[in-house]
Amino acid sequence: MKIENVCILGAGTLGTRVGLQSAISGYNVSIYDISQKALDGSFQVMKKILHQLKKSDLITEDASVEALAKIHFTMDSKKAVANADLISESVTEEVDIKKKVWKQFGEIAPEKTIFTTNTSYMLASMFAEDSGRPSKFCAFHFHDVFYSRVVDIMPHPGTDESLIPILEDFGRSINQVPVFVKKENPGYIFNSMLLALIGAAGRLLTNEIAEIEAIDKSWMVNFHMPMGPFGILDSIGLDTAWHVTHNRRDSASQAFAAKLKKYIDQGKLGEKTGEGFYTYPNPSYKDPDFIK
Ligand SMILES: NC(=O)c1ccc[n+]([C@@H]2O[C@H](COP(=O)([O-])OP(=O)(O)OC[C@H]3O[C@@H](n4cnc5c(N)ncnc54)[C@H](O)[C@@H]3O)[C@@H](O)[C@H]2O)c1
Repeated sequence: MKIENVCILGAGTLGTRVGLQSAISGYNVSIYDISQKALDGSFQVMKKILHQLKKSDLITEDASVEALAKIHFTMDSKKAVANADLISESVTEEVDIKKKVWKQFGEIAPEKTIFTTNTSYMLASMFAEDSGRPSKFCAFHFHDVFYSRVVDIMPHPGTDESLIPILEDFGRSINQVPVFVKKENPGYIFNSMLLALIGAAGRLLTNEIAEIEAIDKSWMVNFHMPMGPFGILDSIGLDTAWHVTHNRRDSASQAFAAKLKKYIDQGKLGEKTGEGFYTYPNPSYKDPDFIK
């Protein structure tokens, strides 16, 4: 099967990146969202990413104009999916929203369409049946797309195995490194490890053991990393992080979720709103003096 047309559901942080990288790689892309504001915001973020890529000589002006011309933003679900070979779903990390969206698109997508979800911590088997086509359904999970280029391919027990090589090829064609997850696991491979780090950082903060900067510095200096766990949370989005943390029932996760909620209630969602644990576009951890 040849993939030519990609339909992205959800024009937030990840939908925007997966859509843009697919367009840069030559695919026709439609991006669907229920919010016009999200679609407008997605277009602005794409322009910013392209600007950064141009500054780093990773794309030419002509190629960036060509990429944007391949993307169609819409609130019309039928138009979005009309000729889709592959759907990559990046809607809000809430099981009821994902179930609803997959029921909706299972009813209107063409027979040929492969269904993929980008959920971070849920499992494809939690909503594959809602799509009405569980064998065509697989988790296909990106990280940051441009900066972190691993894509997890994690089938659920009902996934048709023939989808795996198609997704591997597609992943490579959009400049990602596919990794295969043999059985369903919340958090795939990298996020399982990341959750342990974030959980520990959250506990250090909520138990008042150390401040944000000290925790981030420890990680950055010891592992030669460009950011620490709280910088990572800002780039993920504190709202997305809250959904994940809040859904874990242990008391440490609940305490950290309550902390995240305070930021969210003030509109501090991280990099995307200009403020989270740090302020953007020039967070203090990027200052060379930060780790002195
Ligand atoms: N943020 C990350 O770093 C990251 C990384 C990998 C995977 N993910 C996953 O990607 C998904 C999206 O995360 P995000 O950070 O981009 O979230 P986000 O909040 O930035 O974007 C979610 C988008 O979904 C839209 N949406 C909500 N309900 C919808 C519906 N019924 N139909 C269409 N669109 C709808 C919202 O309007 C919003 O624009 C989540 O499952 C998340 O776990 C996120």
